[in-house]
Amino acid sequence: MKEVSKEVVYRLLHPRQVVLVTCADERGKPNLLTVAWSTPLSFDPPLVGISIGKNRYSHGLISRTKEFAVSVPPSSLLEKVKECGKLSGRKEDKFRKVGLTPQPSRRLRAPVVKEGIAHLECRVVKEVEVGDHTLFVGEVVEAYADGRCFDGEKFDPERVGLIYHLGGAHFLFLGRSGKKNDQI
Ligand SMILES: Cc1cc2nc3c(=O)[nH]c(=O)nc-3n(C[C@H](O)[C@H](O)[C@H](O)COP(=O)(O)O)c2cc1C
Repeated sequence: MKEVSKEVVYRLLHPRQVVLVTCADERGKPNLLTVAWSTPLSFDPPLVGISIGKNRYSHGLISRTKEFAVSVPPSSLLEKVKECGKLSGRKEDKFRKVGLTPQPSRRLRAPVVKEGIAHLECRVVKEVEVGDHTLFVGEVVEAYADGRCFDGEKFDPERVGLIYHLGGAHFLFLGRSGKKNDQI
């Protein structure tokens, strides 16, 4: 067996589905970031967790406003997903810079990403300090998806491509490929 260095241990638990997490400041100015470390945590109540680095601009926003939304990007958004994972909302309006659209959510001040194919609106019910990250546990207060690719119970891999992160610059797709011209 090959030894795995501490820095890349997490990659033994990848690939992980990539999502876009949205949040907003107290005045409603939105931000978003790319997240691979998200997970369902409970059926009832429906809880999801996101692990956010303490140095991310979004970390402060989520911690102060106690809310975030998760939008699922189709594979056609790969390049934008990469940019959202590099740029910081501390310095610029990331939605505008990357060319994504903030769409008013149903229950939160934070928007969802209009180009996403599914959205989970969450209120933070718990924050757990985990090393250099914080695990934000969110209760899902609204969830909705594009009926063309989610039949009410599951995604249809014939209709949509989902993005998975292997680590570093390496990505995989489930379902349709990540060609730029894919519509959903
Ligand atoms: C594929 C990918 C996955 C990422 N996953 C996470 C993650 O799970 N948690 C995290 O805190 N940052 C993650 N990042 C890094 C943030 O998206 C990145 O630091 C971002 O610029 C933070 O933006 P902000 O400063 O506007 O909050 C990921 C980046 C990429 C490209």
